[in-house]
Amino acid sequence: MLQLHDLQVEFRTNHGEAKAINGVNLSVHQGEALGIVGESGSGKSVTARTVMGLLDAPGYVAGGRIEADGEDVLGMAPKQRRALYGQQISMVFQDALSALNPVHTVGHQIGELFRVHRGASRKAAKVKAIEMMDRVRIPDAARRVNDYPHQFSGGMRQRIVIAMALALDPQLLIADEPTTALDVTVQAQILELLREEQRSRDMGLMLITHDISVVREVTDSVAVMYAGNIVESGPTAEVLSNPQHPYTRGLIDSVDARVERGSRLPAIPGMPPDLLSLPEGCPFAPRCPLADDHCRTTKPLDRSIAENRTVECHKAEEVNRDELLYAG
Ligand SMILES: Nc1ncnc2c1ncn2[C@@H]1O[C@H](COP(=O)(O)OP(=O)(O)OP(=O)(O)O)[C@@H](O)[C@H]1O
Ligand SMILES: [Mg+2]
Repeated sequence: MLQLHDLQVEFRTNHGEAKAINGVNLSVHQGEALGIVGESGSGKSVTARTVMGLLDAPGYVAGGRIEADGEDVLGMAPKQRRALYGQQISMVFQDALSALNPVHTVGHQIGELFRVHRGASRKAAKVKAIEMMDRVRIPDAARRVNDYPHQFSGGMRQRIVIAMALALDPQLLIADEPTTALDVTVQAQILELLREEQRSRDMGLMLITHDISVVREVTDSVAVMYAGNIVESGPTAEVLSNPQHPYTRGLIDSVDARVERGSRLPAIPGMPPDLLSLPEGCPFAPRCPLADDHCRTTKPLDRSIAENRTVECHKAEEVNRDELLYAG
């Protein structure tokens, strides 16, 4: 349904080219919930924005391909693109709440989609808006359709944003940190809503998060991102129970420690690399407890280790041998 082939994105800066995305390969299939997880700055939002055709200068695609149902997205004519976005692929943004216009009622904003894309009348659009609000479980939708965004709680506003993203029945929904701004209970409800919608419409979902426990709850498969690379990917259950990349293991260990011991485990020590001067070898080597000279000089290639599982690490075989990989 959606495929990225060796996607590369760079930002032109005063200090040189920042290599934000460095050869990303991934695919989302119909009916699949794919999680993209990684630390802040790893390139999750840039990947999503590039797929949505929203990469702004000074960012540009430096290489690779994006395909939607086999069609080359980057080469599409504007008209074809407009049909693709909104209808085939839609997105819930990281700062979703600012996606709502404060001067229009929510009913107007949801209804507008049906008016513009489906030629619905004002009246029909309002009926559709109420239907969508019901669907994302906004209580008393028939009355609240005339309210303005500020009259809703954060969680309810997020539901409205999701309703707008689902309105035109997309085949794929990209949700970029859809719950980061919400408290834990509301977060769980929104994730459940996304999961239910994804399943009941057999839709593809690309869920972007920095939180591996969200990945565990919601997704079928996962791609772990580090410094603009997918360092590991595969079925969620398998990757989380048997990580093959030391970075993935670090993400999992820090969550498990928090849950089991209530301790604040040091996250993986160190900082992600400077995108203006990426290390010569593995980008994770400077922080990796297993790295040796080979890792520091030779970038690992993406290799397939089982059906649908890939890892980019010279030391994959050792990752689960050491009980206390990050404890020391
Ligand atoms: N306009 C820009 N100019 C230069 N660099 C940029 C620009 N936009 C993004 N970047 C760089 O691209 C990298 C990836 O950013 P991105 O927003 O995709 O990270 P992210 O994984 O979504 O992080 P977060 O979890 O904080 O949302 C970052 O290191 C960022 O500094
Ligand atoms: Mg982001």
